[in-house]
Amino acid sequence: MWRNTADTYGLIQMTLHWLIAILIAVLLPLGLWMTGLDYYDPWYKKAPDLHRAIGILLALLLMLRLGWRLAQVQPRSRAKSAWEKRAAVAAHRLLYLLPLLLVVSGYLISTADGRGIDVFGWFEVPATLRGLEGQEDIAGDVHFTLAMLLLAVITLHVIAALRHHLVHKDDTLRRMWPGMTTTHNR
Ligand code: HEM
Repeated sequence: MWRNTADTYGLIQMTLHWLIAILIAVLLPLGLWMTGLDYYDPWYKKAPDLHRAIGILLALLLMLRLGWRLAQVQPRSRAKSAWEKRAAVAAHRLLYLLPLLLVVSGYLISTADGRGIDVFGWFEVPATLRGLEGQEDIAGDVHFTLAMLLLAVITLHVIAALRHHLVHKDDTLRRMWPGMTTTHNR
């Protein structure tokens, strides 16, 4: 139930997948919206604080997920051809790598001036690398580019999942959804 099998994902990997998907679904639009806010907007300071705090939660969940994934068997691929299988492996790797790089670049933007990141008043992540030449601007450009790349990969990922479900009518989507696992209709 908790662990993966050769047929399906376990509850822990499913939960981490959907929690991280939700955090990213909040972070991407929040990040794009907050950078356009006027100085006098009540969210001008609140929105970046929220974005940074959720970003740190994402980092913790990503590390947990990566560790768990490396320790688990992965369900057999339902890909219909060799290229589809290669594309899925590449996309899944990017879906780990890009959020991790986003967290690092976001951390470098936020801590460039030496201030740490307050996570909902629960704890603070201290600044380490700070004051490098152009740190805030360069990390900002990298952060934005990575976010757009991630958006593109997520779009392809969702299209692929829906294609499995609606066109091939296999259990790819169901086996990532708690309670929907079935060994029939692959
Ligand atoms: C509505 C959005 C999403 C849907 C419908 C969806 C659907 C799925 C499905 C069906 C699988 C299983 C694929 C298989 O068994 O071969 C999967 C796996 C995966 N998904 Fe998503 N996904 C979504 C969002 C995301 C997001 C936002 C991320 C990360 C940024 C992500 C990262 C992954 C990864 C890395 C895997 C491989 C299995 C793992 O390592 O946990 N997904 N997704």
